Amino acid sequence: MKTFPEEFLWGVATSAYQVEGGVELDGRGPSIWDLFVGQSGDTGDVACDHYRRWRDDVELLGKLGVNAYRFSIAWPRLFPSGRGPLEPRGLAHYDRLIDALLEKGITPIVTLYHWDLPQALEDAGGWLERDTVERFADYAATCFEAYGDRVEWWCTMNEPWIIGLLGYLHGLHAPGIKDDLLGEATAFHHTLLAHGRAAQAAPADARVGVAFSLAPHYPASPADAEAARASDDYVNRWFLDPVLRASYPDDMRALWEKRIGPLDFVHDGDLETIGARSDFVGVNYYARRLIRAAPGNTPWPWEVVTADAVPMTEGGNEITPSAFTDLLVRLRDDYGNVPILITENGAVYKDRVHDERRIQFIHDHLAALQDAIGRGVPVVGYCHWSFLDNFEWALGYAQRFGLVHVDYETLERTIKDSGRYYASIARANVLLAPEVAA
Ligand code: FCB
Repeated sequence: MKTFPEEFLWGVATSAYQVEGGVELDGRGPSIWDLFVGQSGDTGDVACDHYRRWRDDVELLGKLGVNAYRFSIAWPRLFPSGRGPLEPRGLAHYDRLIDALLEKGITPIVTLYHWDLPQALEDAGGWLERDTVERFADYAATCFEAYGDRVEWWCTMNEPWIIGLLGYLHGLHAPGIKDDLLGEATAFHHTLLAHGRAAQAAPADARVGVAFSLAPHYPASPADAEAARASDDYVNRWFLDPVLRASYPDDMRALWEKRIGPLDFVHDGDLETIGARSDFVGVNYYARRLIRAAPGNTPWPWEVVTADAVPMTEGGNEITPSAFTDLLVRLRDDYGNVPILITENGAVYKDRVHDERRIQFIHDHLAALQDAIGRGVPVVGYCHWSFLDNFEWALGYAQRFGLVHVDYETLERTIKDSGRYYASIARANVLLAPEVAA
């Protein structure tokens, strides 16, 4: 029997804009995602209607047997214009949610920023402006003050790399800016600094950390080793090093300076702030990156390739669970024994309820996780992405990640086979064979 560590956190994850809907309720202000309509044409106006149905959804969490729930607070529900005054109805909503979770013995893991920046702050420059960092620190302090007596786990930021990459370089996510390399780098720095400033305000007995998007890198051939290393700097180390070592990696800093000139947005003392406190490392893992050198490519001289004969999810991600083990072992080897919380891992499959492929995916990734734990990596919990099928950003509702199916016509929820399988594992704290789900 493959048992997980005692008190292992078995969670499922969501984020506010992806599930809540109810964008006009209780005085919520607009966020950048309300105004941004991505490629799919879908919006989060209704999403899973979780803002109204949250009581039923907490019941559903109970049925899933989880002992943790990672969700995010919508900043524009607490501060409709990004700064004071505080909206008490928004504050009260999360207060009730947290209490209901605790009553069921479910540990809340609260994300403070999962991409729904108040539009009023975007109008003032968004993450390109240093002032946004201070507004975030105020908002974080309000949350610690309101919920810190009951919430221990806090993810300050979700995926700073994706915020910059898709929001400022590819224009695929709000605020939809394209080809702005300086903007991308500035947003990276300011979101990291926002983590640091929030962590300073966190109660001493809280656990604060960043949920990083991490992808282990592999060269497509021996000749691509240097390109793979450089891409790893860009994707992983540029975020891990400042947070866990209070420094930016020199090689990548030099690459950035070659492209955009001196990094004037980095002020004296910033790195000390960013690196001052992280009580855990949040890992969002979806896939590895296989890299080939591409000398003429802009902005960076490499490209991501897919291998022949590697299985894929229906979302187009390669399925390589051993890369998950490699990533976790590397985190411990390079950054020491900071507790690791898997804040996201999951896959797109369209099967309505009988989703054997998701069951296999979960099994194989939990086995990979156990390999890492067996090698001494201090993993304290795993949150599957996602609890519910939901609004998958630019890709809309077509991409289903949930353990629970959502019918977008009726909003009816149905636990998928993978949800039952996951519940059995969470209850037993043991990795069960996929057959138990049959
Ligand atoms: C991550 C996001 C999460 C969800 C998953 C599929 O990058 O943090 O909101 O979209 O991908």
